[in-house]
Amino acid sequence: MRIAISQVKSSSKAEIAKKHQHLVFGRTFSDRMFQCEWNPDLGWHQPRIVAHQPLAIAPSANVLHYAQQVFEGLKAHRRVDGSIALFRADKHAERLDRSADRLCMPAVGPELFLEAVHTLVDLDRDWVPPVGAGSLYIRPTIIATEAALGVRVASNYLFFVIAGPVGPYFPKGFKPVKIFVEQQYVRAVPGSIGFAKSAGNYAASLLPGRNAYANGCDQVLFLDARERRYLEELGGMNIFAVIDDTLVTPALSGSILPGITRDSILQIAASMGLHTEERLVSLDEIVKGIEQGDVTEIFAAGTAAVVTPIGSLMVNGTTVEVNHGRVGQLTQTFYDHLTGIHQGTLSDDFLWMTTVASKAKTGKVPAKAKRTNVRARKRPAKAQVKAPAKKIRPKQATRR
Ligand code: COI
Repeated sequence: MRIAISQVKSSSKAEIAKKHQHLVFGRTFSDRMFQCEWNPDLGWHQPRIVAHQPLAIAPSANVLHYAQQVFEGLKAHRRVDGSIALFRADKHAERLDRSADRLCMPAVGPELFLEAVHTLVDLDRDWVPPVGAGSLYIRPTIIATEAALGVRVASNYLFFVIAGPVGPYFPKGFKPVKIFVEQQYVRAVPGSIGFAKSAGNYAASLLPGRNAYANGCDQVLFLDARERRYLEELGGMNIFAVIDDTLVTPALSGSILPGITRDSILQIAASMGLHTEERLVSLDEIVKGIEQGDVTEIFAAGTAAVVTPIGSLMVNGTTVEVNHGRVGQLTQTFYDHLTGIHQGTLSDDFLWMTTVASKAKTGKVPAKAKRTNVRARKRPAKAQVKAPAKKIRPKQATRR
């Protein structure tokens, strides 16, 4: 599908550089966004890149009342060779469609998803922070826009993609966090939408999350809905434990999000010859294991959180320290391995990175267009075309 690109006033490199110095997760957005509508007659149509702007939807739009919504979160990384690459974008495309299917929404399909993400990131490439300073977080979202009350599947949808530079999800960065183990509320029940990346799951985590913060913790850990006995996931990331030198994580039961970082860590661990297990993990096993020294590390994993060490668990008002509150060796290894692949300092043996080719015709209004209007008009068209992409490492896949 051909994506129409509107003229958008781009922020100057200096303005962007200033924003890159104070990155708080999810607060800063790039200049542009992608939009595309769906209806039963036309399917997905009118794909376009426009300025990042508020949406105009009816107050009766289905998404606002019945939460018919799905989304993704993926990242573009600046690499040491100067290129920009997406991490496992194909897997995010697949997951968005699986989530959409559960919410009775039309699939976007990998082709449109990847075209939208690549074009947006290419146009807003200046927004990708320098190596080591953060990444560009990309949020593809589908919402039901049909203007009608009544609980039923909508017949109109909007697929949009926004992006913004981010630093670490937890403000203190790669430091051990405190986790509140939630024994009353649950995130998702078996058979519901827990495996889908959909707003309702996150809405359910807000009150427990607020309780966790009130107790001096950084995040909440949910237990299973039936017995409140087995670990499920945190408020927006998966959990891992190192038990007797085995890397253990809760099995995907249907109520847990199948994290792409989770899957990546399991693959890296296997490639290191580490024994891995996806199974039921009880809170009891973890608490006793910490006391007896069998559980040596616990960490969180997600696109936003990357790998975040867990320094303590608060269980029924008692704080249980993990690894004396220090970053574990394997936790550090997985963090280094993933960030090395992201930044291109480690070989991308799994072929997870896809270079964003410098290709889109920007339709860009230079930031200083007003002041330099005359000179800009006189300049040959070629001078406004961006420099070609730097040399691509042979192992990387390249799209477009
Ligand atoms: C992500 O990891 O991308 C998420 O959507 C989780 C959220 C806590 C930001």
